[in-house]
Amino acid sequence: MSKAKIFVTAYHPGSAIDDLSRHYSVEKNANAIGLNEASLREKLKDCQAIISAVEDPISKTVLMANPQLKVIAQAAVGFDNIDIQTATELGIVVTNTAGVLTETCADLAFGLLLTCARRISEGDRFIRAHKWKGFTPDLMLGLDVFGKTLGIVGFGRIGQAVARRAAGFSMNVLYTRSGSFNVAPGIAKQVSLAELLSLSDYVSLHCPLSKETINLIGEKELAMMKPTACLINTARGKVVEQVALVKALKSGQLKAAALDVFQDEPNVPDELISMEQVVLTPHIASASVETREAMARCAVDNLLLALSGKMPPHMVNPNVWDRFCQRIN
Ligand code: GLV
Repeated sequence: MSKAKIFVTAYHPGSAIDDLSRHYSVEKNANAIGLNEASLREKLKDCQAIISAVEDPISKTVLMANPQLKVIAQAAVGFDNIDIQTATELGIVVTNTAGVLTETCADLAFGLLLTCARRISEGDRFIRAHKWKGFTPDLMLGLDVFGKTLGIVGFGRIGQAVARRAAGFSMNVLYTRSGSFNVAPGIAKQVSLAELLSLSDYVSLHCPLSKETINLIGEKELAMMKPTACLINTARGKVVEQVALVKALKSGQLKAAALDVFQDEPNVPDELISMEQVVLTPHIASASVETREAMARCAVDNLLLALSGKMPPHMVNPNVWDRFCQRIN
């Protein structure tokens, strides 16, 4: 019997994908960069499963063109690139890698907060440009972090991990939009979004992108923030109205921002690039060697479990299970 075909859309560090080849016929996307809808649709022909990444457009069109597909194992926690409703209707299991990348993402979010507050990347650029003439007491003054107020929008696993880091800096932590698995850790206070925005010195976004959170932070919300505040976004670019953010930063209505995600990646507006008070990173919140290897391993494990008829632990659409089992038996 020929081995079932699996398509892997991106290069993943570690040995997990090679291990998958022992069980299935694995085709890898030859380009390091993601595929568009038309090529993904073609590549999925005859495939039973896919190991996908955050930018793969797994739309209704792609899914309807490939009714033989049974498992989408996303190597990420976010899955806003996948049409979950259509996948569920078609009996396709969708899994993610929730839990595997929590601490690594929280590290980057807190690192961005510190970088923004203490102007670390600006200082680095300053020295490299040979502009430093010597110590002066007023050079590159930043903002304190210790004892300040941090507002966390989206208090799921990653939001709570950021709160734990903030506790080490004696920060006063406010949060909104708790995740369904949330257990209030007693180190943070739940408030409304308006309160959080108006009281926080730092606002860090950790909500998934959904119909409810698209453009959650727009002109009105940015106007509620303190003019001394910094916005940190490691969630999804579309949670923030980018044009409004640029405007708020330009006018000084908002002090600074640190962004790991953007509205239309990999395009970053020149206006953001030219602003010294903006810290930019290329969607790397989960990008440590250990975590990226673990994410690939988790996606492969999810896929192997599902195709062997065992419910994987990271199912995004658990209500599909009975339907899916009928399809594989
Ligand atoms: C990365 O953005 C992820 O969702 O894991």
